[in-house]
Amino acid sequence: MDRSRLFAAAALLSLAAALTACQPKPTAAPPAPAAKPAAQVDAARLAAAGTDGANWLSTGRTYDEQRHSPLKQVNADNVAQLGLAWHHDLDAVNRGQEATPIVVDGVMYVSATWSKVFALNAKTGEQLWAYDPKVPGDWGINACCDVVNRGVAVWNGKVYVGTLDGRLVALDAATGKPVWETLTVDNTKRYAISGAPRVAKGKVFIGNAGAELGVRGYLSAYDAETGKMLWRFYTVPGDPSQPFESKALERAAKTWKGTWWTQGGGGTVWDGMAYDADTDLLYFGTGNGTPWNAALRSPGGGDNLFLSSIVAVKAETGEYVWHYQTTPGDDWDYDATGQLILAQLKIGDADRKVIMQANKNGVFYVLDRATGQYISAKPFVATTWAKGFDPKSGRPIVNPAAHYGTTGKTFVSQPGAAGGHAWHAMSYSPETGLVYIPALDLQMSYTPENNRKPSKYTFNIGFDFAAGSLPQVAAIKAGAKAGAVGHLSAWDPVAQKEVWRAQYPQPWAGGILSTSGNLVFQGTPMGEFITYSADKGTKLWSAPTQTGIVAAPITYEVDGQQYVAIEVGYGGAFAIAAGEVARDKHAPSNTPRILVFALGGKDALPADTFVALPLNPPASTADMALVDKGFHLYHPYCSNCHGDAAVSGSFIPDLQHSPVLSDAAVWESIVLGGARKERGMVSFAEELKKEDAEAVRAYVIYRANQTLAEQKAAKPVG
Ligand code: HEC
Repeated sequence: MDRSRLFAAAALLSLAAALTACQPKPTAAPPAPAAKPAAQVDAARLAAAGTDGANWLSTGRTYDEQRHSPLKQVNADNVAQLGLAWHHDLDAVNRGQEATPIVVDGVMYVSATWSKVFALNAKTGEQLWAYDPKVPGDWGINACCDVVNRGVAVWNGKVYVGTLDGRLVALDAATGKPVWETLTVDNTKRYAISGAPRVAKGKVFIGNAGAELGVRGYLSAYDAETGKMLWRFYTVPGDPSQPFESKALERAAKTWKGTWWTQGGGGTVWDGMAYDADTDLLYFGTGNGTPWNAALRSPGGGDNLFLSSIVAVKAETGEYVWHYQTTPGDDWDYDATGQLILAQLKIGDADRKVIMQANKNGVFYVLDRATGQYISAKPFVATTWAKGFDPKSGRPIVNPAAHYGTTGKTFVSQPGAAGGHAWHAMSYSPETGLVYIPALDLQMSYTPENNRKPSKYTFNIGFDFAAGSLPQVAAIKAGAKAGAVGHLSAWDPVAQKEVWRAQYPQPWAGGILSTSGNLVFQGTPMGEFITYSADKGTKLWSAPTQTGIVAAPITYEVDGQQYVAIEVGYGGAFAIAAGEVARDKHAPSNTPRILVFALGGKDALPADTFVALPLNPPASTADMALVDKGFHLYHPYCSNCHGDAAVSGSFIPDLQHSPVLSDAAVWESIVLGGARKERGMVSFAEELKKEDAEAVRAYVIYRANQTLAEQKAAKPVG
């Protein structure tokens, strides 16, 4: 602004002030009672969060992210009296709801699909405000794993959310109005934010996702008051002909080969983080590489630091302090991004300050958190990709057959890309000494794909979705029927062994809360909210929720009453991509809601009005060459959302049941014309032609008729 315009503006302002001064004073209304300022959370309150059972101040409840509450009004003796106290329907799209709510002084702040944020009265469920960051619908193609958001952070009167299109937004906690907003990514690249920010020392920490889509991972710190960026830590080295950002990255570059930076590299920081007030370190987990297939990412080998690692940096400056790589040279999408729990454990005779993770690779790690020194590691689920683990370092001894990129042959691995445990929150109870893990028993078939060029609309993973697809791979199909399950594992991190488990007939159950009432809470995809005794795993109570659950419960107190809250809504990576393996493994309806329970709660859910679409495909008349062409297009382009083998395991439409299937023109208007762009269905016109869209339609019609025939054959005669 130049000086003359500045003066003009100043003159206008004083004129306005004079005019206001002349206005008659409004007749005196009684002064409103001084409302408590919203979300007054500061360093002292966060540091004392452990003993503050009434509030849930950060996503992991406390800085050590244990998700264990000292509340015990609801306990193993009276939990049978737990009932629904209130429910609130969220104005959000009915895809995966993965958020952990936050509660500060009787107000709940929670996010939902497409990064929307809501503030609710935590006692009554009344909505106080809603915020929609208006993420463009076609950005959905840049979210590998559903349009999810895992939660917000609060600090000094503000609520922070990372949006799917890469912005960090600070909202006024009282009104939901943006105070500042900053773009944290280069949005010519396919970055997305799904994780919850963390706040410590007046800084907001946020990472991003996109390692399947060719981005370079990093974590950034912003000033909580102004949104100014303070530091950034890149997790993988950039172009070595340019100066490295740090000595640590210069060293990391020695563990790479080829021209990795041209593909992005990966290593995104999309979920687990923990701030440690004792050491003033910030810990975070990094994701897989771009592409998954290590032979294409770093031809000739190498550990590829800092992929699939737990990293510690100075919270003040972002300077590297230590790292521990859980999967050197990862080939299987074994992110180390899962929740990081800080605790004090008695190991031998010593009290050790540890950091713990149940990694996607199926192994439970315990490290010294000041130094990163390895303490112990043990598989908590079956692990076929490793033959063993070095007892001194925990480094995996990889089964040579598992390196599918090197052998050129398909390898069926357990865990698969969904992990032995994914992002779903765990809890650690210092009272039982157990970590409660939402574990997955899933296999995946890995077949290398060496010659497809990365494109704007497909994953760059060097892995052939079509070859790994059902029902083509009989072994996977058999495994899917028999073994695609999940369990809640109560794990002793000192002895590194399971103490009890609750078995589920399906994988992808929700996150976990434990309390001093000797209780553990978990929701299931089938729509059951369950309580077990924390010490023995006895099922004590459960409530039907109509809608599947993947998020984690919390507990808090208002006016002397303890509440237990959960966000419901099924979706996420496994649900949208796994197809046949995920089919019918969730409750039929999917209403995004907050459900809140209390002793003696008397609320009831409205009747479930969900009606399934019939399977009524047109006859399959296309020749097999066209069907086969469609199959090979469906897999890179459509299966990540509509499900493997054209079977939807989520609430993204199942194309076999789609009424659009019988109308080539409407099909084309959606697939190429972008008619549903606003709702997350991008136009593929830049990469697919009319004949391609027709081929995909022919394939889906063929699959729908296959399913129809299977259903008829399975029907008992008479
Ligand atoms: C990034 C995720 C994503 C990908 C990839 C994707 N879709 Fe979709 N698709 C969606 C969503 C979300 C909807 C639902 C939109 C709505 O609510 O109307 C949808 C809807 C559709 C519909 C309308 C179905 C109905 O019954 O209303 C068709 C047809 C469709 N997609 C075809 C395809 C095809 C073919 C491909 C691959 C070329 C594909 N989609 C890839 C997310 C995706």
